[in-house]
Formats: sequence, structure tokens, C-alpha cells
Amino acid sequence: QSSDLAATPPMGWNSWNHFAGKVTDADVRGAADALVSSGMRDAGYIYVNIDDTWEGERDASGVLHTNSKFPDMKALADYVHSKGLKLGIYSGPGPKTCAKYEGSYGHEEQDAKMYAAWGIDYLKYDLCSFTQLMKQQTGDEHSEKAFEMQKVAYEKMHKALVATGRPIVYSLCQYGWNDVWEWGPQVGGNLWRTTGDINDHYDRMEQIGFSQAGLAKFAGPGHWNDPDMLEVGNGGMTDDEYRQHMTLWVILAAPLLAGNDLSKMSPETLAILTNKDVIAVDQDKLGKQGDRVWAEGPKEIWAKPLSGGAKAVALFNRAPDPKAITLKLSDVGFGANAKMRDLWTGKDVTSTNGAYTVLIPKHGTVLLKVSQ
Ligand code: DGJ
Repeated sequence: QSSDLAATPPMGWNSWNHFAGKVTDADVRGAADALVSSGMRDAGYIYVNIDDTWEGERDASGVLHTNSKFPDMKALADYVHSKGLKLGIYSGPGPKTCAKYEGSYGHEEQDAKMYAAWGIDYLKYDLCSFTQLMKQQTGDEHSEKAFEMQKVAYEKMHKALVATGRPIVYSLCQYGWNDVWEWGPQVGGNLWRTTGDINDHYDRMEQIGFSQAGLAKFAGPGHWNDPDMLEVGNGGMTDDEYRQHMTLWVILAAPLLAGNDLSKMSPETLAILTNKDVIAVDQDKLGKQGDRVWAEGPKEIWAKPLSGGAKAVALFNRAPDPKAITLKLSDVGFGANAKMRDLWTGKDVTSTNGAYTVLIPKHGTVLLKVSQ
């Protein structure tokens, strides 16, 4: 696969978090339309990814057909491409997907060729029922032998994708088992889920986001840690909580896959998803993931190196009430005269004797770009 595939973390939209098993061809076309009309495409959201439940039955020659929700996948790909977007699809190494639709087990080459013929640009490959095969064949899905089976299965689809000659971003979805960040690149992964599923509640988002400390060294251009897709705009969190979610994800150099109904977005949701300076932190060409630099109870500071010697520095309040947080510029490697810009407000801010103190609302966040 070409080395510039996923040179920065993939950005786009995925059907699962909002539509789940109900997604249809019309919903996907609607998402493509909305990416263009909302300005999200021009902000970098390029991939339109269909998740589980598009699959139909295999015919006598093993060719997988779509189900009635997706009458013509090639036509859908052409439509998405005509909008300057790319189309992603979903499968898994087991006989069945998580939603019990057809998986690619035993049909990897055939499926990969079909994706390429349709014009697919991204594949999310979800472990699901393969864990049952791992258990049946080794007695324990967590054994070394099961781990080997899993690696072979992921690599098999990677080879099948490469053999098509079409650049297809490869997303490993196995919920962070077996420290996938250690071996994800070896089996061809451009990104790999590091956790179980996110949902639209602050507690779950917070648990996932803040548990990513220490994984920075495994990410880089072409191979990214994936703490799961965005819930911004789905309604279960406040705008402060969604800003914290977005800030964590950009500090983590995470894939930015919106998971909301793009046809019904509040202006706040759109503003959170499309803040150019915030997105630039995620997409910085240095490709370094950020990490925690300081914590005191529910107050945390994380920093991400950016190209040109700057850093993105995020101040997080995880408490259910407002907290004052003080950033000492020396803690993030800068002198007292460093320049600071608040990326959510777009305003420059100043330190006093090398320290910046700010009162942050419940579950709120300040994201600064610091430069000398
Ligand atoms: C489990 C994955 O983690 C989710 O993101 C989603 O793809 C579902 N499977 C679909 O069944």
C-alpha cells in the first residue's frame, strides 16, 4: 500500500454511532451531501464510512451481495466520489460480523477484489465472531495460539487489499486486545482501536480518552491509535463535554470520524467539529500523539508536539464543578515569554511570571497553542 495512506489521522464520518443497524443508502448519500454543504469536507472530513449491516448473502460462487438497504454499492461509491469524498466499508475476519451479517472468513481475496471494483477507499475490519473460532481452535481466545491466529487473519486481509492495487486505508477493530499498538503496523494496519466501544455518555468518553496516556510512541504517519469514533452532536453530552471529547481526540492524534446525524446539526456541534485551529492540532504533519504532562485529582494537562517547535497544550477539568487550573510554561518546555493562543476562543492570552491560570467549567477544557 502506498506510504502516504493515512499520512495524518483519517477524518470523515461513520454510520454506526447514530444510525447503527438502520443505516441505508439514502442515509449515506445524505451524509455525503451534508459533509459538502456544511463545510466539513473542506475542513478535512473526507471519508464516508458505512459500518456494519450493509451485507446480504453470498451466492453460489461465494460473491457477497448487499442487502436491500444498499441496492447498488458501485453507484453509491460513484455518488460519494462525485462529491470529492471517499467511501469506506466494513467487514471482519470471522464468518459473521458483530451484527450477525456475513463476514469475510474464507472469502478475503474475493471480498477485497469486490471492494476495489466498487471503488472502496477504507475498510474497517471487526474481530467479532473470529473470537469464537479462536476459542474453538485453541481452547482459549486469550492464548498465545489464539493471538497468532488473529494476527494471521488481519494480515491476510491486508495482503488481499494490497493485491488489488487500490489504496485502501485499513482499520483494525479488535478493541485493543493483545496490545495491538505493538503489532498493528506489522499486519498492515493504518489505525487500530485501542479500547472497547465508545457511547454518548461523558463517563464513557472520559474513561476512554484519559486512559490513552502512554500510547503516544506507537502512533505516527500511516499508523494511528484509534480510541473510537466521535459522539459529538449525538445529544448525550453538553457542549462543554463535547469540546473536551474533541480536544482529547486532537491531542491524541486520533482519527476524527464524526458519528452524528449530519443532516440535523446544531450550530454549536458544527463549530466544535470544524474549528480549523483545533483540527490543525490533530492533522499536524509531524504526526506525534500527545500525552499527559501533569495531573492533580480531576485537573489534567496534556501536551502534543507540533511541527515548527510549537505545542498544543490542553487543560482539562474532569470535575463536576468549576476548577481553576494553572499551566506553568516551564512544565511544557517553554520560557515565560512564550506566545499562547486559545484555540477554542481564537484569542491570544498572556502569562504572568510564566504561569497561566484559568477558571474552567465543569467537564470543560482550554486548548492552547504555545510557541516561542
Ligand atoms: C463493534 C465495533 O467496535 C463498533 O464500532 C461497530 O463497528 C460494531 N461492532 C458494529 O457491529
